[in-house]
Amino acid sequence: MDSLKIDGGVPLTGEIAISGAKNAALPLIAAALAGDGALRLRNVPDLVDTRSMEVLLRNHGMEVGREGDLLVMSGAATNFDAPYDLVRKMRASILVLGPLLARYGEARVSLPGGCAIGTRPVDLHIRAMQAFGAIVELADGYIQARAPSGLTGARVVFPMVSVGATENAMIAATLAKGTSELVNVAREPEISDLAECLIAMGAKISGHGNDTIIIEGVDRLGDATHDVIPDRIEAGTFAIAAAITGGDLTLIRARPRHLDSLTEVLKLCGVTVEEGADRIRVAANGAIGSADITTDPFPGFPTDLQAQFMALMCLADGSSRISETVFENRFMHVPELMRMGADIQVDGGIAMVRGRKSLTPAPVMATDLRASVSLVLAALATEGTTRVSRIYHLDRGYADLEDKLGRCGARMKRV
Ligand code: EPZ
Repeated sequence: MDSLKIDGGVPLTGEIAISGAKNAALPLIAAALAGDGALRLRNVPDLVDTRSMEVLLRNHGMEVGREGDLLVMSGAATNFDAPYDLVRKMRASILVLGPLLARYGEARVSLPGGCAIGTRPVDLHIRAMQAFGAIVELADGYIQARAPSGLTGARVVFPMVSVGATENAMIAATLAKGTSELVNVAREPEISDLAECLIAMGAKISGHGNDTIIIEGVDRLGDATHDVIPDRIEAGTFAIAAAITGGDLTLIRARPRHLDSLTEVLKLCGVTVEEGADRIRVAANGAIGSADITTDPFPGFPTDLQAQFMALMCLADGSSRISETVFENRFMHVPELMRMGADIQVDGGIAMVRGRKSLTPAPVMATDLRASVSLVLAALATEGTTRVSRIYHLDRGYADLEDKLGRCGARMKRV
């Protein structure tokens, strides 16, 4: 029951309402552990990954209630262990480290283990906690961290940009004694969303969205209600769906400023992009030009849209050089796209794509969340029936995908 049968070749037209951002919701849910009031999050997407984070918080002893897209978390942690069988399902579980340490002075978090897109270490998370005065040991596959007299504010300089390590350090710093200066931080919209929520809970934060964040420690974080920002990666995925099928989609609740790097390159390829305050219209009618991209932390081209853009370039008029600089193994979609006839050469972190007039249907297999959706995009643009297997990867990051695309003309069925 985990394959998608797709009859492609139909231009997608219509409107899609973009859900709340998975990569904003996960740190926001973890941040509830640092509070001692009630945190109410609205516009939380109903995904396998957000459900996993809810299970993790209940495992720590928190009250977690969900009513539609509202998530209410309250109570206190009574258990500070994040066990391997929960952490291995979702790497973002590491985000409980900072809040548990800051609020309770202890945390025992299983090392996440690798995943499809590389080894993905957590050394930057650990170094940040040590900078705040925590004692951290690695034993039996667990990070064992203690801060018996609480955390102390510090200047933390990140040697490379890390979204998760920035988030862990931000949450930890809100309750540390004194002021913290976080340097060379991630600037993704999800970082700013986390800062706004923490401020609503009582934190004192400035500089988020730039490369240095200043946080003045406070004694406690209290009640707050916060709306999760729309998912820019879901919106970007559907923008590419419009381009690759020669369709016309309007993405409602999308934030144009969160997708500048994608929409700029789509315009370079001859795709029509019209922006409203909270919507983006993307339309194409045939030939797509080719363009080179290099993935980079925000505001650069997002690594989470690299696989989807590669699918588009497989059908572009010309060649495209795609450079993946964020993860060391994020080309797992390449062999699968090649089974559909794509012409791609990989050399290290560079993929050279030669566009073709069309691809051919073939049974393909998903390997990770964004790779799986790139195969769906290629299948939607290809005449005939394509089956994408192991699509449980999709359910981690795309809510109601078949329904959203089906309403715009896509012929896809879960079998
Ligand atoms: C977040 O992962 C996202 N996940 C990822 O989205 C996204 O691809 C990534 O940021 C980059 O934008 C969530 O927000 C839940 P990083 P994260 O720390 O925080 C290395 C998706 O598809 N690194 O910014 O894990 C790391 O190996 C997912 O939605 C260290 O070396 O990413 C990578 O090469 C996939 N040591 C680079 O930094 C560390 O301690 C960037 O990773 C941490 C990271």
